[in-house]
Amino acid sequence: MEQPEETPGILAALGLNDVSSVQQFAELKSYLENLVEHANALVVAVDRSRRVTVWNGAVARLTGVDRSAALGLPLARFVTPEVATPLAALLTRTLAGEAVEGFDLPLARAGGGEARVAFNTAPIRDTAGHVDGVVAIGQDQTRLRHLEAAAEQAEKMAGLGRLAAGIVHEVNNPLVAVTMYADSLYTKWSDGHGDPGDLEKIAGIREAGLRIQQLARDLAAYARPSAGKEEALELAPLLDQATLICKPAFKEVDAVVQRDFRAVPLVAGSRSALTQVFVNLVTNAAQAVKRGGTIRLGLHFDGGHVRVSVADDGEGMTPEIQGHLFEPFFTTRPGRGVGLGLATVKGIVERHGGTVVVESAPGEGTRVTVNLPARLVSPQVKVPLRSPGSTPHSR
Ligand SMILES: Nc1ncnc2c1ncn2[C@@H]1O[C@H](COP(=O)(O)OP(=O)(O)O)[C@@H](O)[C@H]1O
Ligand SMILES: [Mg+2]
Repeated sequence: MEQPEETPGILAALGLNDVSSVQQFAELKSYLENLVEHANALVVAVDRSRRVTVWNGAVARLTGVDRSAALGLPLARFVTPEVATPLAALLTRTLAGEAVEGFDLPLARAGGGEARVAFNTAPIRDTAGHVDGVVAIGQDQTRLRHLEAAAEQAEKMAGLGRLAAGIVHEVNNPLVAVTMYADSLYTKWSDGHGDPGDLEKIAGIREAGLRIQQLARDLAAYARPSAGKEEALELAPLLDQATLICKPAFKEVDAVVQRDFRAVPLVAGSRSALTQVFVNLVTNAAQAVKRGGTIRLGLHFDGGHVRVSVADDGEGMTPEIQGHLFEPFFTTRPGRGVGLGLATVKGIVERHGGTVVVESAPGEGTRVTVNLPARLVSPQVKVPLRSPGSTPHSR
């Protein structure tokens, strides 16, 4: 049997000189190669000229670049231009004999997007102890980063919740007094006895007070939307109630409201939170339509979901605006809104296991659809919540 070509030096170093040792060595080599190939870590190695010598399965899967396509090419080819310089510095340090830990390297992911990978590098030495390459072992940190970001966000929300509760408490009580006194002075002087200028100022005080109260309420709803106990809900009356609450908004623009409600199953959720979702959507629609515009409310059931849609033939939205819709404090209507409406809608709907879909085109209008999981599969059959003993027909 012939010795593998590249091995004599290593064989001598290992003291292997008979055929069976050579065979054992070949087996060991293939075993180690397998180990690297299937390791649950990203393993890359380069030679002194920084060309790829090892590119294991995990790296191939992450980057979408096959081993055969990577071997022999400069490693710098596979990273984005921004990280080429830090990568070169990393390889230089390691080739100088230093092991580097926790080097953060973004890699282009196969399906698009970027993976955050933390690499530890070590010099590879030949039998004489000279560094002739670098091995880098990495872990994909993307998921960890996402979890960290989510935890950070949750913490921020909890902080914001406490802040909002504080504001609502401290601001609301004095404001109720302000608006009530303004109300009573307005009534007292509106019989024509008082100074009309004073009357206007009182109306202004009342309106400003109401606006701050609304802001405090919006903030609290955004930060603490889970308030309200869960029950089995019929959505049609909820939608009608939301429409009633929004009546002043669409009367202001003479909007026509059309309903297309089908029989749908119940949905499990908080009455106050879902009412708020629909109030926000109908308000947005009313603010978007021109005088005499149309707002269509839909209630449908399909694919296990109850779908509530609020459509308007108003101004519509550009893709840019659509990209920011759900961000808290994003608004194109400064003075009228504070930009918490859709952020609150999304938070509430997601807590109910649902999704929000927006379809819109500038000048054509907007349709927002809220999909909520149905509590029961067949329409019109109602079961009281939390009483597994009762049958669907017991009421
Ligand atoms: N039905 C709609 N038609 C057009 N634009 C809308 C509609 N709903 C929301 N938007 C846009 O999304 C932004 C954010 O909405 P929202 O979160 O409810 O905040 P706000 O109403 O306080 O501005 C609005 O300022 C507006 O630009
Ligand atoms: Mg709004």
